[in-house]
Amino acid sequence: MSRLIIVANRVVIPKEGDHSAGGLAVGVLSALDELGGVWFGCNGQITEDPKPRPPKITERGNITFATIDLNQEDHDGYYNGFSNNILWPLFHYMLGYYNYDRSQYEAYERVNQWFADGLIPLLEPDDIIWVHDYHLIPLADKLRQGGIDRPIGFFLHVPFPAYGMLRVLPISRKILEYLCRFDLVGFQTQSDLDAFCDAVVSSLGASMEEDHTLLVDGRKVRVGVFPIGVDLDQIAESASSIERYEYANRLITSLAGRNLIIGADRLDYSKGIPERLRSYERLLEKFPQYRGRIVYMQISAPSRTDIRGYQDIKNEVDALLGGITGQYSKFDWVPIRYIEQAFERDILMAFFRVAKLGMATPLRDGMNLVAKEYMAAQNPEDPGILVLSKLAGSAKELTDAILVNPYDPDEVATGIERGLEMPLAERRDRYQ
Ligand code: F6P
Repeated sequence: MSRLIIVANRVVIPKEGDHSAGGLAVGVLSALDELGGVWFGCNGQITEDPKPRPPKITERGNITFATIDLNQEDHDGYYNGFSNNILWPLFHYMLGYYNYDRSQYEAYERVNQWFADGLIPLLEPDDIIWVHDYHLIPLADKLRQGGIDRPIGFFLHVPFPAYGMLRVLPISRKILEYLCRFDLVGFQTQSDLDAFCDAVVSSLGASMEEDHTLLVDGRKVRVGVFPIGVDLDQIAESASSIERYEYANRLITSLAGRNLIIGADRLDYSKGIPERLRSYERLLEKFPQYRGRIVYMQISAPSRTDIRGYQDIKNEVDALLGGITGQYSKFDWVPIRYIEQAFERDILMAFFRVAKLGMATPLRDGMNLVAKEYMAAQNPEDPGILVLSKLAGSAKELTDAILVNPYDPDEVATGIERGLEMPLAERRDRYQ
């Protein structure tokens, strides 16, 4: 049987019995568990070596984890720079955070070459190669140049921007050419796929064939929509045994009968945390009956902390928190509990089950798995309700959430009010 070769920027090597991984890591691990294979990428270690050494190998069951270390300059240019200071804000339509720098593009090319150089010696003739996300767009081209003619797939976890936005990138044509070097290119939603096809047709003169393929320079590239999901049974299992988690019990006790609203995100400007805080403030302003009766707990996991935009968002959130708590707190109640730390996944799922209302209001998101996780963690007999951004990929599937525009604090505040007042029968219907 063919082995599956996963290539992603980040490799997460699980500890025995550890369920703390989230998002991409969970999806990748379950695919690898089934087929066996290799997960290749960086492990976040910084080396002094000018060029990465051959990958470090860790074996776990039928999975081989192969990791390379980057030096500081390459890490800064490739990860903090081109991937997260250029592609990330551009693909999320957030040009205020976009800082194009040609030297960072050079580092991105260089590191993709390191990835190809490290991976090629590990490949076997029947391997299925599956590359993940915006960090590794040039990889198929580098592997082809290294003599690999196996089919190579690519999945983009983040949104693909409309062509008019993509053209802000001086090397947008190159990015499209690189993506067309894969045999199959997958997206989270139909609108991402449409944007990609439109860009390839407009920029590279490709034609769209009937069988979900693009014809580019005489080569066929298959394209498709493959929305990432969550493991419903596993989440339901973690969440339903909340009494196992001391944290969840302490949370219930501390609420003293008040309703809990929860948000959990990476501390990333695309997640719309300041906008969410302003919406919550609007709720307390417009609907004073909730003062003292609800608690909003926002869990923000620190992320990409070396990048200026991420430091700015932290400062903005801190300032807003000071304002809201100062204005609305009483001697025996605070409106917001703000926790800047990552929680183990099982504990988070139990917290989700405790919360009457989940907030997933990104300004733009490829999918937003938190939205799916929140729903999967609910008690079917008495489910909570989700307030979800229309601009998240998951809104295309979770159409029975309360869908809001995250830029409009009045709309979000009204959505929260509607969720908090929703009768059980309607919550059950929507949950189903
Ligand atoms: O959602 C996009 C993504 O890159 C995921 O692939 C990843 O799990 C997440 O963001 C976290 O990013 P980072 O690896 O930069 O912490």
